Amino acid sequence: MRRAGRVVAQCLDMVGTTIEAGMTTKQLDRLIEDFLLSHGAIPAFKDYQGYPASACISINDEVVHGIPGNRVIREGDLVSVDVGSIVDEYYGDSARTYAVGQVSREKLALLEGTRKCLQAGIDKARKGNKLGEISAAVQKAAEDQGFSVVRQLVGHGIGRQMHEEPQVPNFGSPDDGPVLKAGMVLAIEPMINLGTYDVRTMPDGWTIVTADGMPSAHFEHTVAITDDGPDVLTVA
Ligand code: MF3
Ligand code: CO
Repeated sequence: MRRAGRVVAQCLDMVGTTIEAGMTTKQLDRLIEDFLLSHGAIPAFKDYQGYPASACISINDEVVHGIPGNRVIREGDLVSVDVGSIVDEYYGDSARTYAVGQVSREKLALLEGTRKCLQAGIDKARKGNKLGEISAAVQKAAEDQGFSVVRQLVGHGIGRQMHEEPQVPNFGSPDDGPVLKAGMVLAIEPMINLGTYDVRTMPDGWTIVTADGMPSAHFEHTVAITDDGPDVLTVA
């Protein structure tokens, strides 16, 4: 899983140095797919439940699961890129939100705030804690900053399948859910909105957008629970 995680992290590093205004989301998806394949990984999202691309690329009010296409990335966009890999039958899954050129102060605050939410959740990914401690920590970090937490989508266990038990909500009580044990691996993935937490699905059946049209950000890591604390696997 460490190898599957590493290639995803390297791929997202590549995205960070490559993404720029004027590219289409399809061009970026192609670079991501080529990167994974040339580094010995299978793109995990491609054909997953009929998903047509290797990455999810979600811009501004798009929360997650944006399908790459002919849309052009513009200066000032907040672009969330979610990438999954399979290496030797194990999965890695990670997402980051990128600011393209100069973005508004509120978009930048949302981006940095969402990264903090993920870190707050990771800090609670310790054996003996309840799963809900992760959820509650993410929610508190978001709401303390004046942001809202998407409810309709959650993180997940991950291993030999992309989505395993348990679900990992980004909200809830610290008493909720199972006790965490060493050896569990979780994809923790806060989706945080500037306005309302309510979301809608677009007619393409995939793209999730905010109900009020305000921006959203998404950060995700694949995190192993070990005897020595959280071990983030999606690092380069
Ligand atoms: N990282 C997302 C998730 O954890 C992406 C999966 S959507 C896919 O659910 F269908 F494109 F694979
Ligand atoms: Co995921």
